[in-house]
Amino acid sequence: MTRGCHISIRDLTVTFRESPGQETISRLDCEIEAGQFLGLIGPSGCGKSTLLRCIAGLQPAHAGAIQQQLPDQAEMVAPKLAYVFQSPTLLPWRSVIENIALPLELAGIRRTERQAAAAAAMRTTGLRREHDEAKLPRMLSGGMQMRVSLARAIVTQPDLMLLDEPFAALDDISRKQLNTELMELWRTAGWTGVFVTHNVAEAVFLCQRIVVMSRNPGRIAADIAIPLPYPRASETRLDPEYMRLVSQVADALEQTMRE
Ligand SMILES: Nc1ncnc2c1ncn2[C@@H]1O[C@H](COP(=O)(O)OP(=O)(O)O)[C@@H](O)[C@H]1O
Ligand SMILES: [Mg+2]
Repeated sequence: MTRGCHISIRDLTVTFRESPGQETISRLDCEIEAGQFLGLIGPSGCGKSTLLRCIAGLQPAHAGAIQQQLPDQAEMVAPKLAYVFQSPTLLPWRSVIENIALPLELAGIRRTERQAAAAAAMRTTGLRREHDEAKLPRMLSGGMQMRVSLARAIVTQPDLMLLDEPFAALDDISRKQLNTELMELWRTAGWTGVFVTHNVAEAVFLCQRIVVMSRNPGRIAADIAIPLPYPRASETRLDPEYMRLVSQVADALEQTMRE
């Protein structure tokens, strides 16, 4: 069980050199509790990916600050972070297990240790070791490649998981399966999750809270709690409260499109 880090975003403003004077993100404030699973939704170009890059420390802010803190650590200790993208970004010449073990290899962990951790990550993401570990990425379906990508993300036991439209390229059935699997990964591991998606139903199914962003400039347009109990299952999608929340989030999203 990891601890999950608290994220505090204060007065964040981001401008790009290419468009000076234009604020891509403008004075954004957001507190994300340790272990929270937050969904981020908004029209294309509103700054969702930029915000994730800022949280990851890959994108400098023009003004404002982002702080991350682990619960039992008074001092600023950089949380362990994992990033998952829409493209699985696997190395095509490496086997499944070697792809999953890559972050540990880069961290200088011994071979036996990283093989054991990679095998455990395979199990928790629904990959079968005997069946899949020696395969090359191109031998796998899109859904299976995404499982490898998730396994590689969790192998370091991150405190913070940043997911940028991870399932956008998958068919509906694979997407729903991976929604359930990702929810279980989060429930057992306890990391803080920030999940970007265009899909309202997916966001409501997974998340405890959904932040809707508007564009030009990127700001928080709505902040909606999703108090549905976990574990959520396929029946959840038929729950009237679930449907009400889906339409509430969809309305907020539609509002931002009109602006
Ligand atoms: N590296 C960059 N340089 C210049 N402009 C950028 C860069 N990255 C993103 N942008 C601009 O910032 C805005 C937000 O982009 P992005 O964060 O990718 O939006 P989203 O992920 O919500 O679709 C867009 O207008 C985009 O063109
Ligand atoms: Mg994006």
